[in-house]
Amino acid sequence: MFTVKRMNIPKRTIELVALLAISTTLFLFLHTRDLSSKLKEMEVKMQPEDLVSANQIISGDSAPSQGVRSMMKILQSTGEMTSLRPQQLNNTRKAQQEIIFFNRVPKVGSQTFMELLRRLSERNQFGFYQDRVQRVETIRLAPDDQVRLAALVSSYDAPAAYIKHVCFTNFSEFGLPEPIYVNIVRDPVERVISWYYYVRAPWYYVERKMAFPDIPLPDPKWLKKDFETCVLSGDRECKYLEGETREGIGDHRRQSMFFCGHEQECTPFNTEGALQRAKMAVEQHYAVVGVLEDLNKTLTVLEHYIPKFFQGAPNVYWDEISKYNTINRNTFKPHVNEEVKDIVRKNFTREIEFYQFCKQRLHKQFYALKLPEKP
Ligand SMILES: *[C@@H]1O[C@H](CO)[C@@H](O)[C@H](O)[C@H]1NC(C)=O
Ligand SMILES: *[C@@H]1O[C@H](CO)[C@@H](O)[C@H](O)[C@H]1NC(C)=O
Ligand SMILES: *[C@@H]1O[C@H](CO)[C@@H](O)[C@H](O)[C@H]1NC(C)=O
Ligand SMILES: *[C@@H]1O[C@H](CO)[C@@H](O)[C@H](O)[C@H]1NC(C)=O
Repeated sequence: MFTVKRMNIPKRTIELVALLAISTTLFLFLHTRDLSSKLKEMEVKMQPEDLVSANQIISGDSAPSQGVRSMMKILQSTGEMTSLRPQQLNNTRKAQQEIIFFNRVPKVGSQTFMELLRRLSERNQFGFYQDRVQRVETIRLAPDDQVRLAALVSSYDAPAAYIKHVCFTNFSEFGLPEPIYVNIVRDPVERVISWYYYVRAPWYYVERKMAFPDIPLPDPKWLKKDFETCVLSGDRECKYLEGETREGIGDHRRQSMFFCGHEQECTPFNTEGALQRAKMAVEQHYAVVGVLEDLNKTLTVLEHYIPKFFQGAPNVYWDEISKYNTINRNTFKPHVNEEVKDIVRKNFTREIEFYQFCKQRLHKQFYALKLPEKP
């Protein structure tokens, strides 16, 4: 009896202390979560990348790249150019539910596209849903979570659009109706540079600090390190090695991963297998993969291939959205020398190939429409 009692008292004290600690932690957690969501809202408003990309957009579509030019040459020489049929390039017809699944890639101006979609949802009468902001975005899901996500999206009343940062999720694999897959891509090297400066912008690390108070504030030297020096000095952060896997939020190098899927094969950097899977998913499933550098073509293709949702998209964009996005720039993103970009490009071969692939597909879809040339 005595020994039991003696054991009990300290135990209870320990429990009490633990409980107190837990409630304090919980309180702090709720508090920081609140602050962090407020900051997130601010971030959405002042996100530099989208403002910057809007600037690029104003300057118009990119000149056709080598890849696109040679594709068009081949198509013209074989007469395929005139025989392109929209029906063959129209995956919207394969959809089994009128729900857009936009698994957006970060740092491609998708904040702007989200705003476009939100405005279109009012104009064209469809539901608009987006995943709540996550502290740590998990883009690769376990099979159970993939099913849960696909089921959630399928549970919305159609027509609707759902947006989340997540890898390509194959609804048919789980016996669920095929949605209308949509996404946007961007030059992969520009995107990596954009990410590099994004994580160095004050609002980004202040928010992280508030979410995880135990992590130290970044080293000022790290904050000041510019991309060029990082690449040229062979810094670990700017090494892009084929086949390498880096998990966690630190790895934002692989745009193609958002198209490849959740499988292990999709994770190593710049590999042939992941590239082929990503291309296959685009070819089989995606209604439209827009290209940030070709904004007008993207808007036109969206409008014609997914009219139920994107009717009027070019007008809404140019009349309502672009007006707000003209002046600001990410002052944290300095100019990066073309030679340094070329060094990085050498290691992004598959990422670049994937980007070119999406671009060519968009152009094919555009030319298949045979729209009258604008004067
Ligand atoms: C894109 O469309 C807008 C609005 O119609 C126009 O002002 C702009 O010049 C176009 N850009 C290009 C490169 O065609
Ligand atoms: C590119 O890849 C090569 C060969 O794997 C490697 O030696 C080099 O450091 C890489 N360069 C960069 C900038 O990542
Ligand atoms: C998606 O799943 C369906 C059904 O299992 C399969 O036929 C299709 O090839 C899959 N798509 C991709 C890109 O893996
Ligand atoms: C593509 O298919 C959708 C759904 O059937 C249809 O509404 C749209 O007009 C088609 N677009 C083209 C260019 O064929």
